[in-house]
Amino acid sequence: MSNQPRHIAIIMDGNGRWAEAQGKSRTYGHERGAESVRAITTYCAAHSDINRLTLYAFSTENWKRPKIEVEFLMKLLERYLKSERATYLEGNIRFEPIGDLSIFSKSLRNVIEDVQKATAHCNSLVQCLALNYGGRDEIVRAANTLCEKGTLTVESLNNALDCPHDVDLLIRTGGDHRLSNFLLWQAAYAELFFTKTLWPEFSTDELESIIKKFKTVERRFGGLN
Ligand code: FPP
Repeated sequence: MSNQPRHIAIIMDGNGRWAEAQGKSRTYGHERGAESVRAITTYCAAHSDINRLTLYAFSTENWKRPKIEVEFLMKLLERYLKSERATYLEGNIRFEPIGDLSIFSKSLRNVIEDVQKATAHCNSLVQCLALNYGGRDEIVRAANTLCEKGTLTVESLNNALDCPHDVDLLIRTGGDHRLSNFLLWQAAYAELFFTKTLWPEFSTDELESIIKKFKTVERRFGGLN
């Protein structure tokens, strides 16, 4: 049987470069990036072999960006979640955030909580947005939660993570070949695919062709076939 890409994770890179190449502001690139989020999520929801899609929307390091860009991204996230609430419900898509949400504004946290609760029963796809997320931060928070309870095990630490789900297929758009602190633990045995396509231009056709290649890979998980 071929591999099934049950959990797909994407580092959505290249919004800024895409916009600048058109003589537009970086924020316009993020705006268009949000449209790609909608299209890729809808595609994954329509494919029953895909259960979970985790998207790197804002990292613990992204606060280093200019204030104007950070503020725009916060507003865009809030606007996206509000305007897409119906799309989540129509597509039977469960929304789950991962990351340390405590730093966000009350209004953004309220919208996150509202969409999470409203879609808790949905079961065609989990769309997980990584928000103020960093793999190292996630592991440290999980270890702190557990350290007073005794010895850590792979299982106990895994279960204490924001995302206790191994990634099957990890894609990075935008041409770079690095993980940038995304799902460091969960990607231990992920198949990694890198594409030069900038995120606003990443299409469902390209995702489909990556999935096709993924299905032909022999995954051994350190063993022998
Ligand atoms: C990386 O592109 C992208 C981000 C840091 C933010 C990701 C945000 C979106 C895809 C849009 C909003 C998301 C949602 C869920 C509504 P970059 O800015 O680093 O691009 P560059 O490498 O070309 O500068």
